[in-house]
Amino acid sequence: MATLTICNHKGGTGKTTSSVHLAAAFGLMGHRVLLVDLDPQGFLTRTVGANEPRTEHSSLALIHPEGDLRKLPVQSFPHFDVLGASMNMTREQRRLTRPTDVFWMRETLAEGHDYDLILIDTAAAVSVFTMNALVASDAVLIPVTPEYQPVVGAEQTWQTCGLVRNKLNPGLQAPRFLLTQVDGRLSRHARYSEYLKEKYAASILETPIRTSSSLAVAARNGRTVFDAKVMSRGGLDYAYAAAEVARVFFPELIAPAPIKGAYNPDEDLGDEPDLPPTEPTPPPPPAFGLGAPRPGSAQAASGATTTTTAPPTSAPMAEEPTSKLFQHAPIPGRGLAPAVRPVQSTFEDPFANPEAVIQQAADAKASIRRTNPSHPRSFQPLRPLGKDGATGPQDLDPFWE
Ligand SMILES: Nc1ncnc2c1ncn2[C@@H]1O[C@H](COP(=O)(O)OP(=O)(O)OP(=O)(O)O)[C@@H](O)[C@H]1O
Ligand SMILES: [Mg+2]
Repeated sequence: MATLTICNHKGGTGKTTSSVHLAAAFGLMGHRVLLVDLDPQGFLTRTVGANEPRTEHSSLALIHPEGDLRKLPVQSFPHFDVLGASMNMTREQRRLTRPTDVFWMRETLAEGHDYDLILIDTAAAVSVFTMNALVASDAVLIPVTPEYQPVVGAEQTWQTCGLVRNKLNPGLQAPRFLLTQVDGRLSRHARYSEYLKEKYAASILETPIRTSSSLAVAARNGRTVFDAKVMSRGGLDYAYAAAEVARVFFPELIAPAPIKGAYNPDEDLGDEPDLPPTEPTPPPPPAFGLGAPRPGSAQAASGATTTTTAPPTSAPMAEEPTSKLFQHAPIPGRGLAPAVRPVQSTFEDPFANPEAVIQQAADAKASIRRTNPSHPRSFQPLRPLGKDGATGPQDLDPFWE
């Protein structure tokens, strides 16, 4: 039994794509796999074509004192089962504010289940959900596109994992980075990959995930690339990445080599058109690590500015509008997913300061009921899920419209 969290505090780094394809690859290897969508936006749930579950049957049910995975009605797909996200997660997050609330998922999974591997996709944020995943996991994979912001997010995630390991989950293995959406023609991708390799050495998986239009096309059709076009860059890369994940994290999981023959990530399979490079000119040097001017260097002496401005955001490939992306999987009776409206929230999330909350959680650890049954309960039981009549996004004011 293994639990792997896919996490990067920065968005758009291929977390969901990696979660789905690693889960599918492990399923194809013959393992029983559960894919958990812990992102309140529920993109994974919709990408695989799952229905939005009732709140009490969603991934939220794992973050509850009464949680029992064996009793949850998961949705089954050819290579894996899915525990989908509920739109009510955003609101539920507001009452999961006690330090001890980071332990519920670990407690629930410890009750027992029948999966060989549980893979958890998280949102690009430090939240009570992400923290539950990290505390419940054996290992963490950090997908990182070799660009400025994703690299910064990946390094922050690395630090969060270290804190969680030191204070809350000593069994957590050292995280590994998975390079994603790598475009070999971009010099900045080479530079940021080099930066990560120099600093984190063996913590980078050897298999990079290259840009692959087949991955995006498969996602639009609610399929995995293994079912749509296995002999594509995306198919091969994720197959090999899964074998490597098994080797480095979970040697107890049998991982046959996915495809016979030598694997060459530089080989052009010629089966799909090259994606246009996203940015022809290299970005300004980062303020840290590789590329930053050394004190006393000519660049520093000349007063050349070391800007910390992120490179212009650029999509790795042309994207369909969201409404089209999800047209294959409308939520029954509700039509398409509503757009998220960013508004000023008055909710003060204690998880905005992960260091403090991890310390508080470590201090409060002994009060967890399941960990220490004889300990008097030091908190009120949580309200049962799904008993409040909340049914959809209309209840989520002010986050949804
Ligand atoms: N290797 C790849 N090649 C081409 N496109 C990709 C690749 N990986 C991911 N994408 C596309 O990039 C976009 C972002 O990927 P994804 O949703 O997996 O990132 P994420 O980290 O889960 O984002 P978020 O933080 O918003 O949850 C998606 O449209 C996806 O189809
Ligand atoms: Mg995602």
